[in-house]
Amino acid sequence: MKYYKIGHPFNTEAVINNLCLEVQNFEDLFESTHFKGVVNETINLTCPLEKNDVIYGLGEHMHGLNKRGQVYESFCTDDPLHAPDRKSLYGAHNFFIIDSETLPVGIFVDFPSKVTFDMGFEIKDQLHIAIDGKDATIYCFTGLSKQEIVKKFLMSIGQSFMPPKWAFGYQQSRWSYENKEAVKSIADEFDKHDLPLDSIYLDIDYMDNFKNFTIDKAGFSDFKEFVSDMKSRDLRLVPIIDAGCKIESGYEIYEEGVKNGYFCEDKYGKPFIGAVWPGKCHFPDFINPETRAWFGSKYHKLIDLGIEGFWNDMNEPAIFYTEEGIEDAVEYAEGIKGKNLGIYEFFDLKDKFMGLSNREKDYKSFYHKVDGTSYNHYDLHNLYGYNMTRAAGEAFESLEKRILMFSRASYIGMHRYGGIWTGDNHAWWEHLKLNVKMMPSLNMSGFLYSGADIGGFGGHSNSELLVRWSQFAVFTPLFRNHACMGTRVQEPFRFDDESTAQLRNVLKFRYSMVQYIYSEFLKARQNYSLLFRPLSFEYSDTHSRSVEDQLMYGDGLMLLPVIESNVKGRYIYLPEKTLIWTVNAYDDYQYEILEKGHHFVNVDLEQMIIGIKKNKLTLISKPSNRIGHLETDTMFVKGFLEDKAEYTLCYDDGINRNSIVKDFKITMTYKDGVINISCEGDYDCNKLEYDVVTWDNKRHKGAVNV
Ligand code: GLC
Repeated sequence: MKYYKIGHPFNTEAVINNLCLEVQNFEDLFESTHFKGVVNETINLTCPLEKNDVIYGLGEHMHGLNKRGQVYESFCTDDPLHAPDRKSLYGAHNFFIIDSETLPVGIFVDFPSKVTFDMGFEIKDQLHIAIDGKDATIYCFTGLSKQEIVKKFLMSIGQSFMPPKWAFGYQQSRWSYENKEAVKSIADEFDKHDLPLDSIYLDIDYMDNFKNFTIDKAGFSDFKEFVSDMKSRDLRLVPIIDAGCKIESGYEIYEEGVKNGYFCEDKYGKPFIGAVWPGKCHFPDFINPETRAWFGSKYHKLIDLGIEGFWNDMNEPAIFYTEEGIEDAVEYAEGIKGKNLGIYEFFDLKDKFMGLSNREKDYKSFYHKVDGTSYNHYDLHNLYGYNMTRAAGEAFESLEKRILMFSRASYIGMHRYGGIWTGDNHAWWEHLKLNVKMMPSLNMSGFLYSGADIGGFGGHSNSELLVRWSQFAVFTPLFRNHACMGTRVQEPFRFDDESTAQLRNVLKFRYSMVQYIYSEFLKARQNYSLLFRPLSFEYSDTHSRSVEDQLMYGDGLMLLPVIESNVKGRYIYLPEKTLIWTVNAYDDYQYEILEKGHHFVNVDLEQMIIGIKKNKLTLISKPSNRIGHLETDTMFVKGFLEDKAEYTLCYDDGINRNSIVKDFKITMTYKDGVINISCEGDYDCNKLEYDVVTWDNKRHKGAVNV
């Protein structure tokens, strides 16, 4: 494990526990690998790829678990159309592993601006990394298995953010529930339909004219009382915060920011202006610690009103337009006015207007000030959303209580301060698929608390897509349904009675699984491991390396989501004999042992299937409609037993930052046809009931009596 500094790289603070040895010569970095590097005005790294090499990682990106055959760009981008040819999304996560059959190599390119990863697109057996600059730190992990590489990398970047336990409940969002009545009626509908719910989101319309840290008095009068009314129903409100701050005299954020020089500046030293929701805005210079402390302190305004969670948005940063951009476009349009436009002029005209948002030219026109040195934004672009979330995370450190925080834009390192959601996906089956494939790579980049907009943000969802998506999302830590304005309403009670019933079972199943999910989250965080893993992280057979639509999860589960429409089942591949748990509801399920190999398994829409590995157990409880109401007095053990299985359930108070993680261990043995259970730790074993299947295909049910 080595690292090398090329030139004078900016300290991104992605790596906080450097476990690699610094080398003095660039050539030494790649010793024992096939990488070659060339440094000029830009840095280029290449590496031949073997036929069977699999590339895992790169965090938030299009395409599969295996990243081969495509080009990816690391440049935080606000693009709501995640089409297959999109090279960049909202996050910049430059860590990947080439999993070769002989020598796995892990690479982390710590560089805060654009990096292009050609993973065998131009030349199918060559990887090419182009770094748009000449100052970067490159980390190279070799001599380890891929599991060890991930662990060492995660150790270097530090532990993940820890959300409060209620944030593992179901969360409902829409742009926008425009006033208190709308929010309240959503809560009422959930209760009326007996649907679990822990929080409702406030999108931009809760603000006064889209001004951060303000409340729209007309729609949300007596906000504190409203928050507390919802809290008395055990529901949290989660408001959005945007990066751009409205230019308006008298507005506190604007006044203080300008007075103290907290905003990014243009080349004349004036606060940079770009437009977002409120029209013209200034952008806090989050990379500057003083700005972070100032902006972070503003979250307390809402915390003081009872708020316990936030989502940070538009922090790539998204810029709808700048005055210069409009001038360029208008000038061009005026220049060709009245002319007979040929194909090239016409497309140029169109591009000028279509390309007004998020222009590279605009990103190059403003500056950050760090320790007295000025940096062009373009050169630090990928650190912007990271440091906005860091501003909040640092401000929350003074509180005993954990605050939910997740962001749209991110860079590795931000995972210590918050999670991420995967932005403006669509109500497309392809995006359910993408959600499945992305989870392991997000985990590899440190982001454990993550999830997609269930049902899809853009476009119109139907009940089948929502059911199938929710079934997969049962396992994603962030379990939130969110949709764009103008789209079909997609709360779980919006369709027909049958769909509501199906979704009720799915949501309740999540609540009954939450002890296990939370426990596995705690373990992944503590052990620097992955919650979601490709099959090849647990099985070494060749076929496991090419499975793209099944994932290993936590301790002993295999997720087998249905991700196609109008199907009544799916193909699955089992590298070993596995128990298939077909769940209609937490208390209505079947078991079937399937042998190693390929199978087609029937899965009706109201069903989900989960694999349980040999000698593995999972624990569920009765569901509830709020995380805080879960009863864990009786817990139910499910499992597949050959001879001996152990499961350790980790838990904490779910509320406080310094809560101590406790655990208890269940051991179950099977010998001569007899099941034996013992427990260690702080839980009365006699409160357990079990329903497990043994290797000889016998089902054993009962209450523990020790
Ligand atoms: C962005 C966000 C989306 C939000 C919308 C309005 O598009 O990604 O989640 O609803 O802005 O705030």
